[in-house]
Amino acid sequence: MHKPLSQYLDLANPQNLQAYQSTGGYEGFTNALKMQPQEVQQQVSDAKLKGRGGAGFMTGMKWSFVPMGEDAPKNKYLVCNADEMEPGTFKDRWLMEGAPHLLIEGMMIAAYAIGADVAYIFLRGEYRLCATRLQQAIDEAQAAGLLGDNINGSQYSLKLHLHTSAGRYICGEETALINALEGKRANPRAKPPFPQVVGLFGRPTIVNNCETLCNLPGILKNGADWYTQISDGADTGSKIFGISGRVKNAGLWELPMGTSARHILELAGGMQDGLTLRGWLPGGASTDFLLAEHLDTPMEYDAIAKVGSRMGTGVIIALDDQHCPVGMILNLLQFFAQESCGWCTPCRDGLPWAVEILTRIEAGQGSQDDLDVLQQLCGFMWIGKTFCALAPGAVEPLRSGMKYFADDFQQHIDHKGCPHRH
Ligand code: NAI
Repeated sequence: MHKPLSQYLDLANPQNLQAYQSTGGYEGFTNALKMQPQEVQQQVSDAKLKGRGGAGFMTGMKWSFVPMGEDAPKNKYLVCNADEMEPGTFKDRWLMEGAPHLLIEGMMIAAYAIGADVAYIFLRGEYRLCATRLQQAIDEAQAAGLLGDNINGSQYSLKLHLHTSAGRYICGEETALINALEGKRANPRAKPPFPQVVGLFGRPTIVNNCETLCNLPGILKNGADWYTQISDGADTGSKIFGISGRVKNAGLWELPMGTSARHILELAGGMQDGLTLRGWLPGGASTDFLLAEHLDTPMEYDAIAKVGSRMGTGVIIALDDQHCPVGMILNLLQFFAQESCGWCTPCRDGLPWAVEILTRIEAGQGSQDDLDVLQQLCGFMWIGKTFCALAPGAVEPLRSGMKYFADDFQQHIDHKGCPHRH
């Protein structure tokens, strides 16, 4: 199988500019520069690339909302969302530590396609090694004339800045990220207007996830047909899939879109000895639980939605039969409650309330009423009632956990304690 991303990965010794170029690096950008920006957009649309941050929005369609042509605003921006803070997700870190030039080339292609002259990498603050390696690679590209004015003798100029986040989960939400970049408090903004039209400093802005951008060099180098043939499922290309939890070897693998979760679990060597898989979150913590019976579902956006969850980031979290689901959900909700920006009431007050109830249940002090209130809270914090996706995302493991592991919740109440603690 073609591995457009991981073929460039070298964690111990990431490629310098020369090494990256000697393995075909920057050929995609060279091809892009020979095309009109709209042709680059078309190629990415033809490749049917979907955003890899979690939502799976068509990349080419997102770009197509950016005003182009003579009447378009003079300044436009591209932002790489590398604020990877989704619990259990570490795929972008892998790419940035191992292949920094791949991301830079992807950003150059995207910036050219939308006519942006300034680009930012918004990087999770804790990703210090990524920061060092990215800055080194940016400096190399700059010194070689790949960034800056009149790239490769063309009319096209691009400045690329690395910006490290001050470290809140909400900064990964694209409009909160834009506020943070502007130096404002990282509250989400109302959408519409979408950033594609009114974004950073009020200008048209594309925010694309790191892995999404890393797919562009391969598409521009080898063409859309080549890319669509990597997978034979409904979604195109490859994906960095992974798994954590009490499996034998937690990790990440680049695999065709549509690979089953069962195959990913097998690559991890299965569950640790003595443990059985009880449930799994398909892509980070803000997705609904699925069960062992769903393991053969293709890891594709629509297929996972059909069985009641979301593919999210595609990095699975496994729940085993000896771990308390209530304890796991409590742990996740504590994270989301702490990370709420407080901007809207359902999220600011609802998440700590859910944590309070779950803490009581886990400690054996919960009541039947508590279960009803938790169900109601899931409704209060749903899509359309909150400003952004943080609280609805947090609700996903809670509502599905209450459905699939209802007996565990009930036992905590009936037996006044956690059945998993002996
Ligand atoms: P969303 O579905 O609202 O938007 C996704 C993208 O499509 C955005 O760039 C948005 O501007 C664009 N878009 C959506 N509808 C549009 C429309 N009608 N017109 C123009 N553009 C449109 O999702 P959101 O809130 O941006 O992200 C939620 C996702 O983020 C979740 O799926 C979650 O899994 C993921 N996530 C990932 C994290 C990570 O660390 N990778 C952290 C937290 C959440």
